[in-house]
Amino acid sequence: MSLADAKISVLDRGFIFGEGLYEVMTAVECNLLHYKNHFKRLRDGAKDMQLEIPFSDSELYCLINEVLARNHFACCSVYLQFTKGPAPRNHFYPSEYVPTLFIMTSPFKMPSCLDVVNAILLKDIRWQKCNVKSTSLYANTWAKTMAKTSGGEEAIFEREGILTEGATSNLFLVYEDRVLTPKENEFILSGVTRELVLEILRRKNINYEETVIPTDSLWRADEVLLTSTTKGVVAVKAINGKPIGNGKNFNLGVEIFEAMKALSFT
Ligand SMILES: Cc1ncc(COP(=O)(O)O)c(C=O)c1O
Repeated sequence: MSLADAKISVLDRGFIFGEGLYEVMTAVECNLLHYKNHFKRLRDGAKDMQLEIPFSDSELYCLINEVLARNHFACCSVYLQFTKGPAPRNHFYPSEYVPTLFIMTSPFKMPSCLDVVNAILLKDIRWQKCNVKSTSLYANTWAKTMAKTSGGEEAIFEREGILTEGATSNLFLVYEDRVLTPKENEFILSGVTRELVLEILRRKNINYEETVIPTDSLWRADEVLLTSTTKGVVAVKAINGKPIGNGKNFNLGVEIFEAMKALSFT
């Protein structure tokens, strides 16, 4: 169906409370990439939200494939959202509900080379369930807009002097002898691309640590990289106008980008 014809109830809990879960995936020639990892994260979030997903993974996969087949995009992003559906407005979770499932695909161009962006550093004002891919994204839309207003692309969050992640990405700091990334906890989303990058680092025998990273580590890094499903890996040129490394070489960024491109098509 066309987007203009798609309707949901004004009482949908996603609309009323911003209570919902989503995933953004990509597909190449109807081949849904890394979907097992996306479905796993969706199910982890659903457990947290006590949202019963009335489909098995293979049923979900078939539903998405049907949308892909009807749209014929060579390369596209797939947006999937679940809520508990419409219910009388009440903060308590409804005991009975019919979930709303929305699947949308949009044509999408895979980046052909490593993108380099400017970023800003912002206080992480988000909550303590950042590991849930929740549709309540006001802090993230606010942060992205602050970044754009400052001539940048991404906001990098810090919480009490510790780096967490980007507003729409995970964070990697590259040093001569190792790569650091914030460890998984309730303050970061377990990115599907983050896991892919860790796999690439393992295959290349590059040392990495998932750890607690003080904010001032940024200024000593040779490269700062951001990862997400739609952007893949992106290098940061400067943060708050301060250059990262020499501001010119993003060697590991390029290497990871190339490895990721190869993996995305397998
Ligand atoms: C806050 C946040 N962190 C990390 C990511 C990266 O996750 P993924 O690699 O699964 O796209 C995203 C993606 O939208 C995000 O919104």
